Amino acid sequence: MKQKLLIAFPMLEEVVQRAQEDFEVITSTKDLSLSEIIEASAEHHIFALMISGKQNIGSDAFDGLSKNLKVIATASVGYDHIDLKKAKECEILVTNTPDVLSEATADQAFLLMLSTAKRLPESMRTMHSGWGKNPGFSEKLGRDLRGKNLAIFGMGRIGQALADKGRAFGMNILYCNRKRLTPDLEKGAQYFESFESMLPKADILSLNAPATAKTYKIMNEKTFVLLPEGAIFVNVARGSLVDEEALIQVLETGHLFGAGLDVFRDEPNIDPRLLKFPNVTLSPHVGSATLETRTAMGLRALENIQAVRLGQSPRDELTTGSHL
Ligand code: 8YV
Repeated sequence: MKQKLLIAFPMLEEVVQRAQEDFEVITSTKDLSLSEIIEASAEHHIFALMISGKQNIGSDAFDGLSKNLKVIATASVGYDHIDLKKAKECEILVTNTPDVLSEATADQAFLLMLSTAKRLPESMRTMHSGWGKNPGFSEKLGRDLRGKNLAIFGMGRIGQALADKGRAFGMNILYCNRKRLTPDLEKGAQYFESFESMLPKADILSLNAPATAKTYKIMNEKTFVLLPEGAIFVNVARGSLVDEEALIQVLETGHLFGAGLDVFRDEPNIDPRLLKFPNVTLSPHVGSATLETRTAMGLRALENIQAVRLGQSPRDELTTGSHL
């Protein structure tokens, strides 16, 4: 008899078909809520649960889940939405999907940076309102990326992919990370042990670190003003790294040239004050949202589940000390 796998959100057909080769798959046409996940997991005595990065499995959820559950595979690299300690107590393995989304997420950071530097939101507003008048030669000028310092906080796989894109655009790479990279990975980037000492040198700051107690509101009223006047701020990591009040304040004072944001403190709700800034590029947490990458994420989550079914260690098993 096949084991049961609950995929708690609408999954791409290619992944579902592959899963059906070895599992009895319970699919969903919408993102299930936590109570729906618990209900379906117990009703079907599921062996494996696949969730997305937007579905929280906190400590209270575990008592209600199927007693047969052996693995929770999140189709995301981040795993701050799952209580790993509680999962371990319940002897449930937890896996994520690193690597496969690094390029797409770094592309999003680059897109937000370039869009903000070239004032794309303002151009789009102009075009949508009928254009009508050519911008003056010296008016509404953007900024070049070439020759600028791109400072990356969190030099894991996504940070490194972003650094390569920056290099291709002639940018200087600065970074701050828990550990200094080896020279072959560092590729000449300048390492800063202290976050605060990197900020004054950043023409553009990009956050690419996981959400942890240490990174919580690392950008706040003290750190934002350490950025030079006219800097660009980019976040594709997690909203919890930023004190949004402080961000709004530096946008209001004009301290920043602009910002590019894919993640927010209260998703899927946006603080309406962020909408009024013409120099802010916004996207709704879609860093990994390409057909190729989301397919690869689904297949990688499935590969982890398959390993557990076969009694092997899944390649992306998370432990309470895991980091991005
Ligand atoms: C989203 C992400 O979680 O992988 C992550 O950590 O933030 C994104 O890929 C994903 O879009 C939803 O599953």
